[in-house]
Amino acid sequence: MKVLGVSGSPTKNSNTDALVKAILDATDAKTEFVKLSTIKVGPCIACMKCVCTNECVINDDFKWLSEKVMEADAIVVGSSTFYGAASAFTKAFIERLYSKRHVKLLTRGKLAATVAVGVAAEKMVAEWIGNALRAGGMEIVGSMTAKGTPCCFVCGPGETCNYTVWNAYSKELTGMDLGVEEAYKEYLEILPDNKPYAHGSAKFLKSYRSVKDEPDVMDEARRIGKLIKERIKN
Ligand SMILES: Cc1cc2nc3c(=O)[nH]c(=O)nc-3n(C[C@H](O)[C@H](O)[C@H](O)COP(=O)(O)O)c2cc1C
Repeated sequence: MKVLGVSGSPTKNSNTDALVKAILDATDAKTEFVKLSTIKVGPCIACMKCVCTNECVINDDFKWLSEKVMEADAIVVGSSTFYGAASAFTKAFIERLYSKRHVKLLTRGKLAATVAVGVAAEKMVAEWIGNALRAGGMEIVGSMTAKGTPCCFVCGPGETCNYTVWNAYSKELTGMDLGVEEAYKEYLEILPDNKPYAHGSAKFLKSYRSVKDEPDVMDEARRIGKLIKERIKN
């Protein structure tokens, strides 16, 4: 029994990596972890050559990675949240799985789990990955998200930020409540003279965050790993 973990987070030893690995460990299966930022998997070029062959013609690391996907009983796909979406590494990998979808729907019946780490929009990312894998006929056994490290946007490191996501996506500017204010409460204190795009509009309360310090989050990863284990057994 084999379980493949794929992380689309480019950060070394990231929270996404930690959660994907925790899920893999809990499966008690033969596992392998692949970090997409350390290999070369480019985006789909829509040449459609795979439509009849189920083989992608692009000559990069997807050639061997797709073999590992095909050998796996279950795959775990994790991503950071970048610009409200999956990382480009994750997106490219998912796009390339398109080659397995035609004629024979080769990934049908595989089990899968998804992980997304972010500050505000990670749920959308986990759902998106899940929908993409479902389109390949996979069954999503578990999906989890975790709060990560808020990124620095424009002004460089420091205690105050003049271009926070809170500002960029605030109700005041977008006319919509995207839930960003709520999500950032733990991370930022909005200063009294806050104005969108004004320097010193917010102060960081928390910067680095590790899921390894959050037992509930790690437990959820282990729970998903055990679910995969049970499902593979049956
Ligand atoms: C280019 C870039 C864009 C980002 N955009 C978002 C975003 O739109 N929403 C969000 O919640 N977090 C965003 N972040 C923050 C990351 O999601 C956050 O740092 C998360 O912890 C990354 O997970 P990882 O450390 O496991 O890779 C962004 C970070 C970077 C580097």
